[in-house]
Amino acid sequence: MSFSANVEKLQPSATMAVSTLAKRLRAEGRDVIDLSAGEPDFDTPEWIAQAAVDGIRAGKTRYTPPAGVPELRKAIAKGLSVRAGRDLSWEGVVVSNGAKHSLFNACFTFFGPGDEVLVAAPYWTTYPEIVRLARAEPVFVQGSEEREFRLTAGDLEAVTTERTRGLIYSSPSNPTGSVYSAEELRAVVEWARDRNVRLLADEIYREIYFEGSGEAPGLLELPPESLGPFVLIGGASKSFAMTGWRIGYSWTPPDEAKKMVALQSHTTSNPATPSQMAALAAYSDPGRTAHDVARMREAFQRRRDLVCRLFDELLPGLAYVVPRGAFYLFVRVDSAFGEGVEGSTAFCSWLLEETGVALVPGAAFGDDRWVRLSYAASDETLEDGIRRVADALKGT
Ligand SMILES: Cc1ncc(COP(=O)(O)O)c(C=O)c1O
Repeated sequence: MSFSANVEKLQPSATMAVSTLAKRLRAEGRDVIDLSAGEPDFDTPEWIAQAAVDGIRAGKTRYTPPAGVPELRKAIAKGLSVRAGRDLSWEGVVVSNGAKHSLFNACFTFFGPGDEVLVAAPYWTTYPEIVRLARAEPVFVQGSEEREFRLTAGDLEAVTTERTRGLIYSSPSNPTGSVYSAEELRAVVEWARDRNVRLLADEIYREIYFEGSGEAPGLLELPPESLGPFVLIGGASKSFAMTGWRIGYSWTPPDEAKKMVALQSHTTSNPATPSQMAALAAYSDPGRTAHDVARMREAFQRRRDLVCRLFDELLPGLAYVVPRGAFYLFVRVDSAFGEGVEGSTAFCSWLLEETGVALVPGAAFGDDRWVRLSYAASDETLEDGIRRVADALKGT
């Protein structure tokens, strides 16, 4: 079979592949504990879901402008402006089918053949594939393990060439849960400004942060003079438990947003209209969403504490990154590699077979020595799963 150069090297999403396998094994009757999922285990708040139902009943079932209804773009821009302490134009907001789609739009709009795009590693598995789809080249850059993989200007400088056009990172990070402090972020952002490197700042987990105000330091809280070219990415999926609704957004200056809208107008058109109605309710009522977000954040934080305690108790030799945000624990498992289990993918297959616990191999995130555990699961499930992992590892 032959495919076009566009997709020849494209691989299916590794994180989705594991959860698909886990679901299949479960359907076959196996006792599976799936700790691979990249989504909150909560339902979308009822009042947000109701807004979509009301919208459908009111006939909000037709096309909207490709960038989303102006009311939604305005509500998102208002929240961003409050964060920034200055007015960010609503015409800079492009609402897309999830943050993944916003990232795709950004890469396709700003990068192309001959460009190098730095990807902060360990990275969310989709970043390099999206860069390659735009026919640009991902260049991986990994901060030191002692700094929980956060990058410094020095790390970035070391891999930069005259072809470097962009840098993609997430903070809080998927897969490590690591979060840049405001000072660390500022150093990276100012480096990018001075190098004229465009930042793709993925802040999809910004509201799932376990320190201070509960909102991770972000691009908009930095002094505006720190910023060079950037695309801010956010969305409803993680903080409002709305993964299936497919609502994400980007913010850039409006003349740049126009090009992304043109791209979206020829690919997907608008995000689903009922989903926009739900998102409109959520973004228009920050007081009410804050209440739901706080409830979910507290649960994630409690589970973060639980999984760290269980690992410390049951597997004291195993290194992990203490998560400061998101809902993942990144665990170093290469000490358990041996004959027949020579990397993270083989390790995860062995573990699934042996214990029924599904984790995601670090190979999917650019570091084969590690695995990712999602703690977006009930306390009982987490406890059972980690005990099984510990028993299996003690037996090796
Ligand atoms: C870092 C990161 N960015 C973006 C996304 C995509 O979010 P969405 O579901 O809104 O497309 C994910 C989802 O797992 C993610 O982990």
